[in-house]
Amino acid sequence: MRIGEIRQLIKVKPAERDATLRRLARCHDIDDLRSAARRLIPRPVFDYVDGGADEELAMAANRAAFQRRRFIPRALADVSQVDTRATVLGRTQPLPLVLGPTGYSRMMHPAGEIAVARSARRHRLAYTLSTMATTTIEDVARSASGADLWFQLYIQRDDGLTKELTARAQTAGYRTLMVTVDTVVPGRRIRDERNGLIIPPALTAGTLAGIAIRPGYWIRMLRNPAIGFANFPGLGAKTIASSGSMFDPSITWDNITELRARWPGTLILKGPLGAEDASRAVSSGVDGIVLSNHGGRQFDRAVVPLDLLPRVRAAVGPDFAVLVDSGIRHGSDIAVALAMGADATLIGRAYLYGLMAGGEAGVDTAIDLLSAQFTRTLQLLGVHSAAELRTIGTELLTS
Ligand SMILES: Cc1cc2nc3c(=O)[nH]c(=O)nc-3n(C[C@H](O)[C@H](O)[C@H](O)COP(=O)(O)O)c2cc1C
Repeated sequence: MRIGEIRQLIKVKPAERDATLRRLARCHDIDDLRSAARRLIPRPVFDYVDGGADEELAMAANRAAFQRRRFIPRALADVSQVDTRATVLGRTQPLPLVLGPTGYSRMMHPAGEIAVARSARRHRLAYTLSTMATTTIEDVARSASGADLWFQLYIQRDDGLTKELTARAQTAGYRTLMVTVDTVVPGRRIRDERNGLIIPPALTAGTLAGIAIRPGYWIRMLRNPAIGFANFPGLGAKTIASSGSMFDPSITWDNITELRARWPGTLILKGPLGAEDASRAVSSGVDGIVLSNHGGRQFDRAVVPLDLLPRVRAAVGPDFAVLVDSGIRHGSDIAVALAMGADATLIGRAYLYGLMAGGEAGVDTAIDLLSAQFTRTLQLLGVHSAAELRTIGTELLTS
């Protein structure tokens, strides 16, 4: 057989010229993106994303809870077409997925929050900008105009600052205000303490050593504007733990009532967990909740949000918006969440691994992987739509 004939038999994809795209093409699931990120990013930064609070019990339990769920699929159901759309707080999206708030994104990649917001816009998914963002509220709104933007609020000790942040988000066109209620004091993340992480990453003896192993990261960082707490000009470098001193530990349900009166758009709470707090959220007049333990980064002995879903759904009724996060790394996890009563899901680390592995294109890869996995899960389940799964899901779950 001649070489030409062999070539015809073996079709090899043409090599991708761009090193980032080449790297991303080798990522077949979120775990591959995580491995790529780990190879590229200095350890203190990677650990900041990857780690959890204290003994990392909650973080491990979050993953285990998704992984242990099993479905009984329905055979012969004609799944040639499946509809993955979901209505999330009044807007229809191609997937029941929202990009959750994560602080300091420009530390993971200089394109940071803008890259994530643009990728979300491209996929017509909502993106939540964190109070602790490294790009201003206004810059993200300008650079990703047309995106469904949500703003995550940490209620500040300084009430004037809280009012200013919400007013800026409203003026800049953010549709939804997400108030995080599980961070009255910062969780203790031992990896960050051991690594001596401060923001922005500084040139210590440790980081100098890191430059030798991860030169690409540092060259990118030094070529781009310095990182800071963009929405709090004048705040100097801080350790992660000390930046939490701005949060108000004395907040109560009265703060939510007050915000409800002031914020004209959609208002949701992120981080109430039990059925009792969920019912309280309904009566406080908010539009929805995100069941979350902050990806296991706050209270290490907190319950797994997914496990609470059926009880919370029963307490708040079928129409109140309940989103869930903490532990989602696969499209099947999104299916599990819907089957157990969630209207949609939020992700944090899944897209950050993509951001670290390849900037905006990496976030695209993360979303595309989750989307393809979710579609295939519906087909293999014998379910025709995300809406159908949300309605009949408990019948298909074995545990
Ligand atoms: C690096 C990082 C930074 C985060 N920063 C914030 C934040 O500023 N505000 C917030 O409400 N949640 C924050 N979170 C929590 C996420 O919004 C989300 O609840 C969590 O990541 C979900 O778990 P998962 O990472 O397993 O998807 C952060 C999470 C990570 C990983």
